[in-house]
Formats: sequence, structure tokens, C-alpha cells
Amino acid sequence: MQRKVGIEALAVAVPSRYVDIEDLARARNVDPAKFTSGLGAREMAVTDPGEDTVALAATAAARLIRQQGVDPSRVGMLVVGTETGIDHSKPVASHVQGLLKLPRTMRTYDTQHACYGGTAGLMAATEWIASGAGAGKVAIVVCADIARYGLNTAGEPTQGGGAVALLVSEQPDLLALDVGLNGTCTMDVYDFWRPLGRREAVVDGHYSINCYLEALSGAYRGWREKAVAAGLVRWSGSLPGEQLARIAYHVPFCKMARKAHTQLRLCDLEDAKDSKAGTPEAREELAKSAASYDAQVASSLGLNSRIGNVYTASLYLALAGLLHGEGAKLANQRIGLLSYGSGCMAEFFSGVVGEKAAERMARADLDTVLARRERVPIEEYERLMKLGSDAPETKAPPPGAFRLTEIRDHKRLYAEGG
Ligand code: HMG
Repeated sequence: MQRKVGIEALAVAVPSRYVDIEDLARARNVDPAKFTSGLGAREMAVTDPGEDTVALAATAAARLIRQQGVDPSRVGMLVVGTETGIDHSKPVASHVQGLLKLPRTMRTYDTQHACYGGTAGLMAATEWIASGAGAGKVAIVVCADIARYGLNTAGEPTQGGGAVALLVSEQPDLLALDVGLNGTCTMDVYDFWRPLGRREAVVDGHYSINCYLEALSGAYRGWREKAVAAGLVRWSGSLPGEQLARIAYHVPFCKMARKAHTQLRLCDLEDAKDSKAGTPEAREELAKSAASYDAQVASSLGLNSRIGNVYTASLYLALAGLLHGEGAKLANQRIGLLSYGSGCMAEFFSGVVGEKAAERMARADLDTVLARRERVPIEEYERLMKLGSDAPETKAPPPGAFRLTEIRDHKRLYAEGG
């Protein structure tokens, strides 16, 4: 019998401050409706140099271990998916191993491919366990990033930061993955990138949306072909995509999930042999179905709308938001997930929500994690954005959280809040 493998539990870490997106719109002389209904944002996480990628990743991983009672001696692999690491050579994962005093026998490394890096780590961990190579050990995959476009840029309202730590094991209480059914699509494009030495991303915003949609189409069709062959979805009755209870998308900004869902439906409508929608216009209209979006997508976006883009973690924030709200309702149902990373790479995969999902999510205590944040005015956000990345302010980390305190002889030093 094939092993069941997937996500057993998760934990979320967010920066301690945020701005209200309407405050940002007013400060930029933009109609707030552009950011709220045009992009789907409510709030945006704001980091200071002390809350770097290591601090966020270590906080999320420590929280996962504490909240879910993970025995550190069982952890055989620690992967950090990130595109905002802190060194060209030393991985974030090695810092996390040291700060959390995790076993020296572990395999540790970072994975990078823009926002897809976390999924690359999740798949490596899943296949490591599914192959039997893990020999009963579990893996921790942390997706951690700080999204930065800069002040007064088109990307500014889509910034954010945070981390999601995933426990991957043979006890997938949150999500048992359909191992091997993944569909992938990769294309060599310059849609979003960050040349070495730059803190802010360079982006061709509207082109990046088109790249996302094209890569989604390839990845989804790849998954669908395998899922139909395996009998998980059918070309009869409803469309194959409609047979998934929910679909969580990579969410650079919430409106993108709506565009992604329309594109996925378009793939089904174009490929259906007996499509009732005969003309391209009719297909476009059906693809945009608000009812389908409301039923399959909307409930996953609560956290993303309050945190912003977290690059590698954005898809897993959507998963967390979905299971936080609907874990009990979705037990034993299959959901789809779409990961996208600029550059670019998309992967569509699926899994079945576990019966203990609601119980596991209750332990993640997401309401408290968000409620502890402080709302800051735009002047304070702008001050924080202008601070040098190597100059953390002196500030005690909250209990259980990590913070960069100093860089001495090019070495980064961290403190844990007691
Ligand atoms: P923009 O050009 O300033 O905005 O930047 P716009 O003019 O396209 O308007 C945005 C939406 O607001 C539009 O809706 C407008 O109609 C609407 P849409 O037509 O798209 O449905 N709008 C209004 N709505 C209500 N009231 C109003 C109003 N005015 C306008 N008054 C853009 C938008 C997303 C391009 C920009 O924020 C950006 O460049 N963001 C960063 C890039 C990005 O997020 N790309 C997404 C795909 S790539 C990806 O996901 C990978 C990524 O996560 C990185 C990685 O992989 O590492 C980014």
C-alpha cells in the first residue's frame, strides 16, 4: 500500500506591525477602492530590520514545534523556501537549526525559485518520506519571505512579510497529498526578479500577471490529465476543476486569486468536448462565474488580505486561512493548490483534508497571532522602510519570537524573547 504523506500541522509567524491599506492609499493620493476592491487588500505587514527572514522563519518553526508538541529528535530534514535570504552562501535553514537547537543529524538547506521555492521544499520533503528514505522521520519546511517593492511604486500595496512552517509526515492530519499527480510548467521569463545586491524587486507587473496565468494553464492541465487517469476527477457532470471542494492559489494580491480561478475554469471550458459554451465570449463569461469563485476560492483569502504578499508563504497562508475557517467542513474532501514563482515555475497539486484538520488548526491559534500586531501610521512605515538592512533597532523580541540584534564581523546574531 502506498504511504500516506502530507502536511500534519502548520504554524504562522507575522511581523509585529502592519499598515491599514486605506491609509496607504490616502498617503499616495490613490482612491482606496483601487487597493481594496481593485487589488483585494485590507492590511499590509511591515517589517523592521530586526524582523529578517531568519527571525521570521525561526519564530514560525519554533511555534510549530511548541504548539504541536513535535519531538525534535524525530526531525530528519529542515528546508527553508525563501527568495529573501540573508547570505549568498549560508542558508537560513542553518540559522534555524542552530537557534532551535535541532538535531545535528538533520539534512538542512534552502530552496529558491522566487515564490515557488517553498513548494520545491515541500515536494522534496514529501517525496523523501514517500520513497521510504526518511525512515520514519518527519520534515519541517519553512516558507519565509519579506516582499519589498519600495515606496511609491505600483507594487507597494502588494508588499508584506511573514513565514509559514509546515510539518510534513506520514500522519497528514491537515492535508494528505496526492503524491505523483502534480502538474508542472516552467518558462524562462523576466516577469519579476531581484538582481544580487538589491533589496527591492524589479517587476514588469502586468506581464507578470500574464506569465502567472500562462504557467497556471500548463500546470493545471498537467495535473488534470493525471487526475482524470487516476479517477479523481471526471469529464462528466461538472467540469473537472469544479470537482475540487476548494482551490488555494498563490496570492501575490488577493484579486490575483480571482484572475487565476477564471483562467483555470477557462482551461476546462476550452478543453471540454461537449462544452455548452460554444464561443470564446461565452466561455469567458462562464469562466468568470462569481458563484464558482465564492464557493471554491473566497474563503481562503482572509489571512492574505491582512498580511500581503509573503512570496513563498503566500500559497500556504491561503491554505492556513482556508483550514482555519473550514477545516471541519472540508474533512475528507479533495482540494487543489496552485504554486507560482516568477522566472517562472508553476505547480498544481491536490490533496485530501484530514479529519483532524480543525483540531490541528485550533492549536495554531491564528487569531491571536494576528491580534498581537500593532497598526502603525504611514510615517512610521516609511521610517522603517528607510532603515538600513544591517541596522536593527534595539527592541526586545516578544516571548517565543526571534529577532536580529546585531551584525558583528559579518555574522548575524539573534535573540529569543523569553
Ligand atoms: P497598477 O498598474 O497600479 O494597477 O498595478 P492597475 O491599474 O492594474 O489596477 C489594479 C486593479 O485595480 C485593476 O483591476 C483595476 O481595474 C482596479 P483588474 O482590471 O486587474 O481587475 N482599479 C480600481 N478598482 C476600484 N476602484 C478604483 C480602481 N482603480 C483601479 N478606483 C499591479 C497593479 C498588480 C501590476 C502592481 O501592484 C504590481 O506590479 N504588483 C507586483 C507584481 C505582482 O504581484 N504580480 C502578480 C503575478 S507574479 C507573482 O505572483 C509572483 C510574485 O509573487 C513574485 C515571486 O514569484 O517571487 C509577485
